[in-house]
Amino acid sequence: MTKTALVTGGTRGIGHAISLGLQQAGFSVVATYHGNEDAAQKFRDETGCAAVKFDVADYAACEQAVQQIEKDHGPIEVLVNNAGITRDGMLHKMAKESWHEVIETNLTSCFNMCRLIVPGMRERSYGRIINISSINGQKGQFGQTNYSAAKAGMLGFTKALAMEVAAKGVTVNAICPGYIETDMTAGMKQEVLDSIIRQIPVTRMGKPDEIADLVCFLASPKAAFITGATIAANGGQYMV
Ligand code: CAA
Repeated sequence: MTKTALVTGGTRGIGHAISLGLQQAGFSVVATYHGNEDAAQKFRDETGCAAVKFDVADYAACEQAVQQIEKDHGPIEVLVNNAGITRDGMLHKMAKESWHEVIETNLTSCFNMCRLIVPGMRERSYGRIINISSINGQKGQFGQTNYSAAKAGMLGFTKALAMEVAAKGVTVNAICPGYIETDMTAGMKQEVLDSIIRQIPVTRMGKPDEIADLVCFLASPKAAFITGATIAANGGQYMV
């Protein structure tokens, strides 16, 4: 039977590449989205995969969606927590809404999705969870106290959960992409982006596929001995 992979924020950007990669790897992929209907429809037309609309920051919405997805597509074997937003601004000017939106969408969403999906993975003694963090969770970023805190939080969450489920055949890993060519980085001021590209030893931004390939490996049975890991893919911009 085809295995199901769920990719949050899976219709655009890095998530879109991850959905395509997992589909090519033989998974039945379900992508989630929140706002962009056009991108979701394009994704459905292009891939034939399901795209399900709900807010990953809302526990009740996640609960309803996960139940429906497992009813329609079977147990979720691979969960990719990819959905994320930015609300950049210096702290002294940041609205408290910008703090809460980013923490809830980027970090609380990982709790919501894992809380609902991990019990089934434990019962089946198999699962793969991949959390898409960021270079900015590792090094911090001017103008991103909210985003850096959420992405750093994902790293601690990954390690703690990895310990809890390791003996149950479930792995939990985090990927920290650097600056990748997506709508998110396209929204940045060109001079800010240019100054960042000058800090990348490979002299270019990354491509979504370069993250998707890593996700596909971690999602495979071959990656059974990798858990609790933080894997950077940032063109050498930050080396730890
Ligand atoms: N380091 C040091 N100083 C900086 C700086 C930096 N990186 N960026 C800006 N400054 C300084 C400016 O020179 C300016 O100083 P002066 O007042 O002395 O001239 C001051 O800070 C204010 O800068 P701005 O005029 O740009 O202020 P702003 O309020 O309009 O914008 C900002 C501030 C929103 C933080 C803007 O600089 C910005 O967008 N920065 C980029 C943040 C970023 O990297 N976001 C990543 C998005 S992509 C992503 O998040 C994906 C991922 O995972 C990698």
